[in-house]
Amino acid sequence: MKQSIIKGTGMYVPPNVITNHDLSKFMDTSDEWIKQRTGIEQRHWIDQKGATGSADLGFKAAEIALEKAGWTPEDLDFIIFATLSPDIMFPGSGCLLQAKLGLNSTPALDIRQQCTGFLYGIATADAYIKAGMADKVLLVGGEVHSSGLDKSTRGRDVTVIFGDGAAAVCIEGLETDEKVGLLASSLHADGNLADALMTELPASRLPKRCPKGLPTDDLRYYPVMDGPAIFKKAVRMLPRVINESLEKAQLTLEDIDLIIPHQANMRINQALGQFLKVDDNKIFHNIQKYGNTTAASIPIALHEAIEQERVGKPGEIVLFAGLGAGLTWGSAIYKFL
Ligand code: UT7
Repeated sequence: MKQSIIKGTGMYVPPNVITNHDLSKFMDTSDEWIKQRTGIEQRHWIDQKGATGSADLGFKAAEIALEKAGWTPEDLDFIIFATLSPDIMFPGSGCLLQAKLGLNSTPALDIRQQCTGFLYGIATADAYIKAGMADKVLLVGGEVHSSGLDKSTRGRDVTVIFGDGAAAVCIEGLETDEKVGLLASSLHADGNLADALMTELPASRLPKRCPKGLPTDDLRYYPVMDGPAIFKKAVRMLPRVINESLEKAQLTLEDIDLIIPHQANMRINQALGQFLKVDDNKIFHNIQKYGNTTAASIPIALHEAIEQERVGKPGEIVLFAGLGAGLTWGSAIYKFL
C-alpha cells in the first residue's frame, strides 16, 4: 500500500510586520489586551497597495517546499490549495498558483475549509495517493486576510487576530509495508454554525452579489465572529477529535512527539494541553509572531517545527488539530520516515 510521505515544506509571510501597538493607532485596542486574550504580539500583513493575493504568497512558499523536496513544478501531478481568501471569486487560487509555477495542465483543486483547510487538504492528498490518482502532490495553505478586515474599533475582536501568510508541503506516495506517513485523520463539519464565523459578501444568493449603492464599509464585507462561542467549541471538540485519530492510529498521547494545533488563540491551545494533560513544551506555539493565518497556520507551524528540529527525525510522530469557520474541525497524525 502506498503511504503519503512529506518530502519538503516551505513558508512565506510578507515582510510588513504589524505590531499590536501599530493596531492601537487606528482602533481602540492595546498590546496588553491582545497579548492577554490571544497571545499574539505581531502579525504580517501585505502592503495595502493591492496586487498581492493568496496565490502569490503560496507561490513563494511552494518554491521553497519544491526545492526542499528536490522537485521541479513539472514533477507535480496534483495541486491542492486551501484558502478562505481566494485571490478572486473564481477561478480558484489553485489554478492561479499552477500558472505561476509555469504549468498548464496539472490538475488544481481548491479547498474552502478555513482553519481546517490543511487537515482536509492532507486527507485529500492521502486519498488521491492511496487511490493511485496522484503520486506527487503540492498542498498549499495561503491567506491574505488584511485586505478584507474592518480596521475600525467596530471590527477589533476579529481584526487583531488575523495575519497573512502561506505554507506549502510536498507529499509523495511511497510503496512500503512500514507504518509511516499519514497514519490517521478525522474530519468534521457542522454547517448549522456557519454564521458563528463568516464573511457574507460578495454573495451569489444576493442580487448583483455586492448590491449597488452598498457602502464599502457595510459589515457584510468583513468577517464577523462569535469569538466566545468558537472558543468554547474549540476547547470541547479538539480533545475529542484528537482522541478519534489516536484511536484510528492505535496510538496514545505518549506516542506523540509534538502536537501542532491550529494557531487561533494561545489560550485555546494552553487549555487543550491542560485538558489532555500534556506538557506545554509538547505543544507548538507560534501565534505570537503570525497571529491566525487560518489555512496556512498548521503548515507554517510544521515548517518551523521541522526547521527548529522540534520534530522531523525518522520515526517521530506529529499530531495536527484545528477548529474554525464552517464550523469545521479535525485532526491528523503523521509519522516521519
Ligand atoms: O481560527 C478561527 C476560529 N476562531 C477562533 O478560534 C477564535 C476564538 N475566540 C477567541 O479567540 C476569543 O473569543 C477572542 C480573542 C476573539 C476574544 O476574546 P474574549 O476573551 O472571548 O473576549 P470577548 O469577545 O468576550 O470580549 C471581552 C471584551 C469586550 O468588552 P466588554 O463588553 O467586556 O466591555 C470586547 O468589546 O473585550 C472587548 N474587546 C476588545 N478590547 C480591546 C474585543 N476585542 C478587543 C480588542 N481590544 N481587540
